[in-house]
Amino acid sequence: MFCLCLKIAHLAHARRNCNNLIFSPKCNNIIVVLRQIPEDWKHVGRVDPTEKLELTFALKQQNVDLLEETLRRVSDPDSAQYGKQLTLEEVSSLVRPSELTQKVVRCWLQSHGITDCLTVHTRDFLQCTMTAEVAETLLPGSKFQRYTRDSQSVVRSSAPYSVHDDVHQHLDFVGGLHRLPPKGQQELSKASSNRRQKPGVHLGVTPAILRARYNLSTTDVGTAQNNSQAVAQFLEQYYSPADLAEFMSMFGRSFQHHSQVDRVVGTQGTGKAGMEASLDVEYIMSTGANISTWVFTNPGDSGAGCKHLGKGQNSFRPSFPASSPFVTTVGGTSFKNPYKVTYEVTDYISGGGFSNVFKMPDYQTSAVDAYLKTVAATLPPQSYYNTSGRAYPDMAALSDNYWVVINRVPVPWVSGTSASTPVVGGMLSLINDQRLLKGLPALGFLNPRLYKLKGQALFDVTEGCHLSCLDEKVQGKGFCAAPSWDPVTGWGTPNYPELLATLLAE
Ligand SMILES: *[C@@H]1O[C@H](CO)[C@@H](O)[C@H](O)[C@H]1NC(C)=O
Ligand SMILES: *[C@@H]1O[C@H](CO)[C@@H](O)[C@H](O)[C@H]1NC(C)=O
Ligand SMILES: *[C@@H]1O[C@H](CO)[C@@H](O)[C@H](O)[C@H]1NC(C)=O
Ligand SMILES: *[C@@H]1O[C@H](CO)[C@@H](O)[C@H](O)[C@H]1NC(C)=O
Repeated sequence: MFCLCLKIAHLAHARRNCNNLIFSPKCNNIIVVLRQIPEDWKHVGRVDPTEKLELTFALKQQNVDLLEETLRRVSDPDSAQYGKQLTLEEVSSLVRPSELTQKVVRCWLQSHGITDCLTVHTRDFLQCTMTAEVAETLLPGSKFQRYTRDSQSVVRSSAPYSVHDDVHQHLDFVGGLHRLPPKGQQELSKASSNRRQKPGVHLGVTPAILRARYNLSTTDVGTAQNNSQAVAQFLEQYYSPADLAEFMSMFGRSFQHHSQVDRVVGTQGTGKAGMEASLDVEYIMSTGANISTWVFTNPGDSGAGCKHLGKGQNSFRPSFPASSPFVTTVGGTSFKNPYKVTYEVTDYISGGGFSNVFKMPDYQTSAVDAYLKTVAATLPPQSYYNTSGRAYPDMAALSDNYWVVINRVPVPWVSGTSASTPVVGGMLSLINDQRLLKGLPALGFLNPRLYKLKGQALFDVTEGCHLSCLDEKVQGKGFCAAPSWDPVTGWGTPNYPELLATLLAE
């Protein structure tokens, strides 16, 4: 094929206006193999060519290996660099895409008349608005269609896309074409509400119950001026300021707290409040009490779930970002006796397992090896998971039977591992608070330090299995909790005073 492709040698002299960059329409490189659209989404039809779409272009970053090495050093308590986290400016100058990459992508977009773009400080993401017609010319192969599920409506491409040969090496991917939002929290909460409906008194998890279980006293609240915490919301879910205020007036009486978010970054929609968004904000502000809280919103989010490969063939589907080796992943537990503050057992909906994408980070290899040896006889069949991958979760907290205020109404029986994450997040904010007061840096990325504790300061969870792909071979059982680390509850749940004492050292 004859291609009039971009000559890299010309670029040094290229002017900002892109005149001498020519992108032939013929040089295209398929970069994505399409996944099937899940059955629960209904195809409505082709989108109107004039309809506006937003696509995200991920530009190739520089020095990714160096960034990873730096993260390892600043997060390892035995390294001289521990706690010396980089500023945004430092991260930015490390990973920012090369001038060439930025120029090629910008010129390519401009050659299609696309100029309505936003970027970020690190310049590695460009979010651009264009019509469906322009998007289909820019990304040959793509065909934009509308899909709906319940009240959700999304536009996605039903076919794989390609990008110009000359641009290909400068892009990691284009976002907004294929991934569909997974089933949300509502499904889980409904499932759980059906399981224990004994009439009469029930306890339910409230901030007071959490603070009692994890040994937070009324004076364990934030006091440092320069501390803050944030939650990120995905899937076009929004928290409601009115619900938060109502929640705090009902459940926040026993401890000093804030009833307002200090800053929202991104667009906070005005639609109905989402269950997950409400949970996050209400609970991070209940354990991380009296700490300035921000919310980041971003529409796209998704324990090991099941991936159906075809009839009779299942494998565990690890989730992202939970399976990333660079985040602390929190599994779910329930009280042994749901009517009392007792010890915790695995919540069967708890996610966990091994990543098929990310390899196992060094900080967890000995913990995972020990688990695999201890429970060898009772593991699910090997074909279901890959033990060279990143294993998760790292720790756990209660995830079952929460009270949430949503659309001004207190709702009981809300469950899902997304409840445990803000609870642990808020406690780590309290620990950071005490560190800041001592003039120490914030904890940063916790995992390398957490694994060195070997379960110290945590309540080990040793009972129960998580529910996984229901088929005859595994009989509905996934991984099971065991003494010490396990891929269901990690190292266990926090005992706040002890965790504070150990993480307050340097
Ligand atoms: C913390 O809680 C546990 C169980 O709820 C309890 O046994 C323990 O004595 C409490 N206090 C400390 C300081 O660990
Ligand atoms: C709440 O935090 C502020 C600083 O943001 C601090 O001045 C105040 O003392 C804290 N309240 C309590 C009860 O510790
Ligand atoms: C297992 O995971 C590793 C990455 O952690 C990957 O390189 C390898 O291909 C995977 N093996 C299988 C059979 O999927
Ligand atoms: C935060 O404030 C405390 C107490 O005022 C101070 O000791 C510490 O150095 C501050 N930390 C940062 C990162 O500004």
